[in-house]
Amino acid sequence: MKYAVLGDVHANIEALEAVLADASRCGAERYISTGDVVGYNANPVECMDRLAALGAGTVQGNHDHYAAGNQNLDYFNPVAADAIRWTQNQLNAEYRQRLAALPMTQQAADFTVVHSSLDAPEEWKYIFSPEEAAPSLLLQQTPLCFLGHTHRPVAFRMQGERIGCNPYETLKLKPGWKYLINAGSVGQPRDRDPRAAYVIYDDQKQTVSLHRVEYDIPAAQAKIRAAGLPEMDALRLAAGY
Ligand SMILES: [Fe+2]
Repeated sequence: MKYAVLGDVHANIEALEAVLADASRCGAERYISTGDVVGYNANPVECMDRLAALGAGTVQGNHDHYAAGNQNLDYFNPVAADAIRWTQNQLNAEYRQRLAALPMTQQAADFTVVHSSLDAPEEWKYIFSPEEAAPSLLLQQTPLCFLGHTHRPVAFRMQGERIGCNPYETLKLKPGWKYLINAGSVGQPRDRDPRAAYVIYDDQKQTVSLHRVEYDIPAAQAKIRAAGLPEMDALRLAAGY
């Protein structure tokens, strides 16, 4: 079985459609989202509908969480908070309820999915380093776990008590090792590569491969501007930050 793992779609339907076309060509049969389906970009409803139609398993991201409710947005920087308020206004009660009902973690056959961290998923911590990955890897019950949140693809691995990390293109998973893998971001990559990122996990071959896909960035930027969303959200798509 080939799984397409979609991180941080962030309401970018142009990027999502390009990724889904690529995943289909690659033989993906099931779809998993690491959360933050909404926020920043201009098509939250369309992205939620597209993933729901695919039967994609989704966990809750911080943008999903705050777009679903009416909580104080002090947690966010002003640009992100503006986008959350805009997103809240696009979502009717049914869509907000769907976001509110998303689980914080999900376990499939031999892997787990979470948005930010396994040790405190509701605190929305960022994992950039092996030290920050350690609490999650120690709690991880499956050999493999996918996460998002930083929008930067990276693979953490633990053998015994040793933890390392590296960028990856294709990883062959080794028996007895644990892997905590950031699938990158479909809708707002921040690793200076503006192409949409996603992962294919092949559970037969035990491989995890990172895919990068070109998409129509000017179209996504034009929608952001037409919606009155922050200009920075448009500019960052072209730069990949
Ligand atoms: Fe995100």
